[in-house]
Amino acid sequence: MNLLSPSWVSPPDKLTLSASAVHLWLVRLDISEEQSGQLAGWLSPDEHRRAENFKFDQLRNHFIAARGVLRFILGQYLQLNPGQILFRYGAFGKPAIESFGGRNMLYFNLSHSNGLALYAFTPGGEIGVDIEHVHESADIEQTAAIVFSDSEITALRALPEEARRPAFFQYWTRKEAFIKATGEGFSFPLRSIDIQQSPGKVLANAESPENQWQYGNWSIRDICPMQGYAAAIACRNDEYPVSFFRMPDMYFFE
Ligand SMILES: CC(C)(COP(=O)(O)OP(=O)(O)OC[C@H]1O[C@@H](n2cnc3c(N)ncnc32)[C@H](O)[C@@H]1OP(=O)(O)O)[C@@H](O)C(=O)NCCC(=O)NCCS
Repeated sequence: MNLLSPSWVSPPDKLTLSASAVHLWLVRLDISEEQSGQLAGWLSPDEHRRAENFKFDQLRNHFIAARGVLRFILGQYLQLNPGQILFRYGAFGKPAIESFGGRNMLYFNLSHSNGLALYAFTPGGEIGVDIEHVHESADIEQTAAIVFSDSEITALRALPEEARRPAFFQYWTRKEAFIKATGEGFSFPLRSIDIQQSPGKVLANAESPENQWQYGNWSIRDICPMQGYAAAIACRNDEYPVSFFRMPDMYFFE
């Protein structure tokens, strides 16, 4: 698999995205109360309702930060006030920008895990992204049996013991990036596909070979966000240039 192991740099003053390019942003969601207040001011009434439904403060704050930062970055690309951006939702909840007559056509997806968020933006078509904290408490054998295909389980078991946990999370993020790109989420039968190692193609396996035509042109790439995390992106295009930005502290106050 093509592992993108980048240096994450500060974004340029003026953000521009060419047709096939993908921009990834890495953002820490633990922010100050002052920053949270500013971000919350951009959220829509339904986002405020979602925030209020979180029982734990940390999860509520992370949701506000993730949505507020999403609005901020989209606002930079689209030259809109973050609070003016309207979202619509797919059948399984995938958010997209409400575009008016093709204006504001920018695809995005986001994922968060253990206080770190990864965002992907591209004008080129649907995109999916997943980030996972590689943690010790996951029962990787049991989960692999539910979500991985037989050949993925065989490949995982063939690895030395110490390599299995990081590999499990890498395989997981590849699959989740794909089901987030299509928008189907966990309604998709995850065991029915294999994600090829190299190149990162999606293959229908024996359970659903008739679906291959739908999957064949998706391309998955592994991303190394930082030590202790695994991530992947899924796009329809094979050859797309990727830029890696990290949100500098306080960026949205400038
Ligand atoms: C999409 C999904 C796989 C994400 O799982 P996760 O590991 O918990 O979350 P991640 O951090 O990777 O991603 C969450 C983000 O993905 C986006 N998202 C939500 N649903 C999505 C979907 N169907 N496809 C792609 N992206 C989606 C959202 O921006 C969400 O973040 P937010 O809620 O803070 O805005 C999972 O939530 C799912 O399967 N959802 C579908 C649920 C469903 O079938 N609903 C039916 C009726 S709406």
